[in-house]
Amino acid sequence: MLSIKRREISHKENNFIVIKKRSLINFTQNDYLCLATHPLVKKAFRNAAEKYGLGSGASASLAGYYDAHRELEERMAEFLQRDRALLFHSGFAANMGVITTLADRHTNVYADKLCHASILDGIQLSRARLHRFTHNNVEHASTLLDQSSKKNVIITESVFSMNGDISPIDKFAQLAKKHQAMLIIDDAHGIGVLGQNGRGITEHFQLSQLDVPCLVTPLGKAFGSMGAVVSGNASLIEHVMQGARSYRYTTALPPAIAIATMAALTIVQQETWRREKLHSLIQFFNREAMLRRLPLLSTDFTPIRSILVADNQRALNMQTMLHEKGFFISCIRPPTVPANSARLRISLHCMLEEKDILKLLDFIAEMLS
Ligand SMILES: Cc1ncc(COP(=O)(O)O)c(C=O)c1O
Repeated sequence: MLSIKRREISHKENNFIVIKKRSLINFTQNDYLCLATHPLVKKAFRNAAEKYGLGSGASASLAGYYDAHRELEERMAEFLQRDRALLFHSGFAANMGVITTLADRHTNVYADKLCHASILDGIQLSRARLHRFTHNNVEHASTLLDQSSKKNVIITESVFSMNGDISPIDKFAQLAKKHQAMLIIDDAHGIGVLGQNGRGITEHFQLSQLDVPCLVTPLGKAFGSMGAVVSGNASLIEHVMQGARSYRYTTALPPAIAIATMAALTIVQQETWRREKLHSLIQFFNREAMLRRLPLLSTDFTPIRSILVADNQRALNMQTMLHEKGFFISCIRPPTVPANSARLRISLHCMLEEKDILKLLDFIAEMLS
């Protein structure tokens, strides 16, 4: 197992972060719309902390479920155009909870080869039989499907967090319908970013709750917060609430976080310039990277822009050189990504400027030449 190394951040604002008193341009965060430090989010958080204090004090099933949680669940259900939403304290817990509730040892689960650790751990814990299809390959998933089984679950992500490519969820929805399989989609990197109104992958492909019955929406990325909602029809959500041990047996999210997350949701809905600017930066990045013939892992319109380096040590050296030049970027190596595919994972966000991107791409091109 590759060891992880943490870098201590003392300050974060707009397009930079401070590490060891050095200010670096931030190309690593998932806070794509820069809402974590938005003045209205901070104000809502301050006021809510004054009202509710810090922790929720108990699990939701005991005394940890507040009016703030209910309100956030209702607002998220409305935003996502779904019957009901259930708030978990993290995306990891949401995936674990949903999968262990909807799958058991009599279930066949079909998951993308590149699915997130929380999905794979959830499947393992459920004791379901796991079938992994090659990345974004609907055909392959289709050939694996056991048509004699009554319990088939297909699970994948909307935007893959290490490649930045969009999964053909419309086709997976057709496949699931054809075989009466349950479809679970993790929209961690699509929410807030995809779709005209930022509703994520279902808006991007114009899919309804009937197409994607179970949607997991982590709030730690474009919403600049933490936690996740699982949404779908009322009986499915009730079933998840009753069955998910990662929901029942854990302290509920602090109510002040729920209030601040609602402020973030309002900004997602109102400050559309954030999403528009991000989209124009993504387009600019792709164009300039292609002009420099950089090996982009995907040219889809998502904020995760990974550049293939392949060799682990080279990727690590590049990361160090980028830090020295004032860019905060992480390299990702196996086993997080497949062997020989070490990469620079660049995250774009709406506070970056085109000139930051140009400087970065010039420097990467120079290092790769
Ligand atoms: C695709 C995906 N799903 C789930 C998670 C977990 O979400 P959280 O950070 O809220 O636990 C992440 C975050 O790393 C992710 O990228």
